[in-house]
Amino acid sequence: MIKIEGISKSFLDSFSRRKVVALQDLHLQVASGEVFGFLGPNGAGKSTTIKILIDLIFADCGRATINGLDVRHKETRRQVGYLPENPYFYDYLTAEELLWFGGRSAGLSATQVKERSEVLLHKVDLHSARKRPLRTYSKGMVQRAGLALALIHDPQVVILDEPMSGLDPIGRKMVGDLIVELKGEGKTVFFSSHILTDIERFCDRYGIIVGGRLRRVERVDQLLASGTTLEEVFLNEVAKAGEGVTL
Ligand SMILES: Nc1ncnc2c1ncn2[C@@H]1O[C@H](COP(=O)(O)OP(=O)(O)OP(=O)(O)O)[C@@H](O)[C@H]1O
Ligand SMILES: [Mg+2]
Repeated sequence: MIKIEGISKSFLDSFSRRKVVALQDLHLQVASGEVFGFLGPNGAGKSTTIKILIDLIFADCGRATINGLDVRHKETRRQVGYLPENPYFYDYLTAEELLWFGGRSAGLSATQVKERSEVLLHKVDLHSARKRPLRTYSKGMVQRAGLALALIHDPQVVILDEPMSGLDPIGRKMVGDLIVELKGEGKTVFFSSHILTDIERFCDRYGIIVGGRLRRVERVDQLLASGTTLEEVFLNEVAKAGEGVTL
């Protein structure tokens, strides 16, 4: 389970020297086995939230836990798979080597890494390209390699920052299928996306963040039963927050 309690985060913009408030008093819970979609306009605070959850940056105040353990605790990381917004890896590595290093550093045995890599490389459709260095990969192929890396240690909690970005329709379907499969295995999935139809299709619940504040959290089936579209709700929340969308 993911629990965020009263997290705020500001950055000092190095150019203007102004304080940028990225998150304001964020409270959010994602239950074990749930698929949660996080949406919000550019600069809303999605990636900041995610980076705090995987302990890449620190919150100014508040607390976040994953399965009861503080995200600052190094053991937490082992239970979490993470796909960054713009994956960048040592590009002289092949996908196979990337997964080898990822799996071994997560504590898997050599046999476990080999078996799991084989399965994942097929799943993300990189098996035939597995021996090529990542620098020869297209953007979508790097994204797929990043996804396989996020899942190599079979984590209980999977956090994906815009997993469908840069993927062709087949790749998007592959990510969707993976999310459904993870849910079937009882894993918790937290992902951000700008693709509203993907949120509607794959999530149990969604949250809308605008200007660093969580504006709405709702079950997707409730939204669909209400006869409103996610697009309408999204635009409405952005407009209410005064972010300059004309309805
Ligand atoms: N390292 C940083 N230094 C200064 N400002 C930052 C830094 N990281 C994020 N910000 C600011 O914090 C705010 C939230 O950024 P964040 O990356 O979390 O947005 P996002 O919701 O992920 O947007 P997008 O949809 O474009 O990925 C933005 O105003 C951004 O400019
Ligand atoms: Mg982002």
